[in-house]
Amino acid sequence: MRRAADSLLAGTLALLLALSIGAAVRPAGSADPGSAAEDAALRAAYRRPAGPPPIPAENPFTAEKAQLGRRLFFDPSLSASGTMSCATCHEPARGFTDGRSLARGNDGRELRRKSPTLWNLAWAPFLFWDGRAEGLEAQAEAPIEAHEEMGQPLDALVARMAADAGWRAAFATAYPGQPQPVTRENLVRAIASWERTLISPRTRFDAWVEGEDAALTPQERRGLSVFHGPAGCANCHEGWAFTDHAFYDIGLPEGRAPDLGRGPVLGLERADRAFKTPTLREAMRRAPYMHDGSLPTIEAVLDHYQGGVVDRPGLPPELPRRLSLSAPQRADLVAFLTTLTSPPDAPLPVMATPPAATQVAAPAPNPAMTPVARARVSQRGRQFAPGRTAVAMGGVLEIANDDNTAHNIRIDSPELTLNSGIQDPGQTVTWRMTKPGRYVAFCGIHPRMRLEIEVAAPR
Ligand code: HEC
Ligand code: HEC
Repeated sequence: MRRAADSLLAGTLALLLALSIGAAVRPAGSADPGSAAEDAALRAAYRRPAGPPPIPAENPFTAEKAQLGRRLFFDPSLSASGTMSCATCHEPARGFTDGRSLARGNDGRELRRKSPTLWNLAWAPFLFWDGRAEGLEAQAEAPIEAHEEMGQPLDALVARMAADAGWRAAFATAYPGQPQPVTRENLVRAIASWERTLISPRTRFDAWVEGEDAALTPQERRGLSVFHGPAGCANCHEGWAFTDHAFYDIGLPEGRAPDLGRGPVLGLERADRAFKTPTLREAMRRAPYMHDGSLPTIEAVLDHYQGGVVDRPGLPPELPRRLSLSAPQRADLVAFLTTLTSPPDAPLPVMATPPAATQVAAPAPNPAMTPVARARVSQRGRQFAPGRTAVAMGGVLEIANDDNTAHNIRIDSPELTLNSGIQDPGQTVTWRMTKPGRYVAFCGIHPRMRLEIEVAAPR
């Protein structure tokens, strides 16, 4: 991603927030643990969405494409050695990871990072541990070509497949009506379509969320309260997939080869050593843990969060600093985490097709807004409010960080690049909008934050 030179940040230290660094961002709530009120609040917070998120218009989902993607995913002929498929490193039975601390590439050498899970990526705005790829289509080309991973130039692979009658037929089924269906683009689109079907299976926890009290044991239910409350896990592992898709330095000790993660991608020192929050669905199958595979067990993960955090300037306020969980609380927490993983004998959803209802139609165009000379947007609770705004050409957009965590506001479109740099709580970003158009601003650290901006001549 580019670092915009034309960005202007007027860091007006406007309001001083009552910032309690280290306190949980999301307080546990007033409901008593285990009370009916708490049950209701938690059930609302962790309910599964009705279907996957909208699918990119340039790659509409079809079962045939996903089927081709599945075949490609498991086929070792995609690698230079002919022995390594995507599934070598992303094994379904291991939660789409490989059981290694660091992945091992086509030439046998260790890569820099651990193979991450592929569950629930349909919702991920940015991919890789450091978020350097936007969207599944952009991601898929990378591992095939990366020398250490599969070591295969994509164009050579595509040429080889185009010469093979079997592959030609498979591509023709997935892309009917195209005279030359075996293309690089079609290969990537098929893999991305298959990846969209990887939605983690329902577990007992979902049954509880849907109202079945007995689906969790009392200990597991207590563990949920610990997770959501005193342990502060839900500050980042939030919602049904247990991720906010954001990037944090959680204070892991530095390994032999320093890995700065999100920082270099954003060009922001404050984001150094930040990595993406992984889903906790199916996590029990995925040891060892973290981007560097440095933590062998769930117990080691808890040891890290409780007492193992290395203090660094970039630690986010979302990360509780002095976590003190009792031994029974920890046992409850582990019991709860196991309920997010399907049982060992559960059949894997080998070809789970998103239901037809997920072919979400393009949203109706938003009603026109009247452009104003000065628009002001809030960011409290890691949300732009309002989520849409219209600024008159030459007018000013003010984005106030009235939140309790730092943001990094960006517009990264072909027509306009803007970058606030680090925007600490209390700072207001002031942008004069001189180019007419429609833009989306997002936060580089919490990329689920999205602000639609329309810049137009006054009507
Ligand atoms: C040699 C092992 C290896 C192979 C083979 C491999 N991957 Fe990966 N994959 C990785 C590693 C390691 C990462 C993380 C790299 C990073 O974050 O810098 C990754 C990341 C990903 C991601 C991003 C996940 C996320 O959480 O953002 C996706 C998607 C993915 N791989 C899909 C594939 C597909 C599809 C193939 C086959 C075309 C494939 N991988 C082949 C090791 C591998
Ligand atoms: C500040 C946000 C934040 C908080 C709070 C947090 N996590 Fe995490 N978690 C992350 C990030 C980011 C990673 C990946 C870090 C890395 O690899 O460098 C992670 C990784 C993990 C992993 C490893 C997953 C994998 O696929 O390797 C587990 C398990 C986990 N967290 C559980 C928890 C539990 C349990 C708690 C509460 C005690 C918790 N987390 C609190 C952000 C957070």
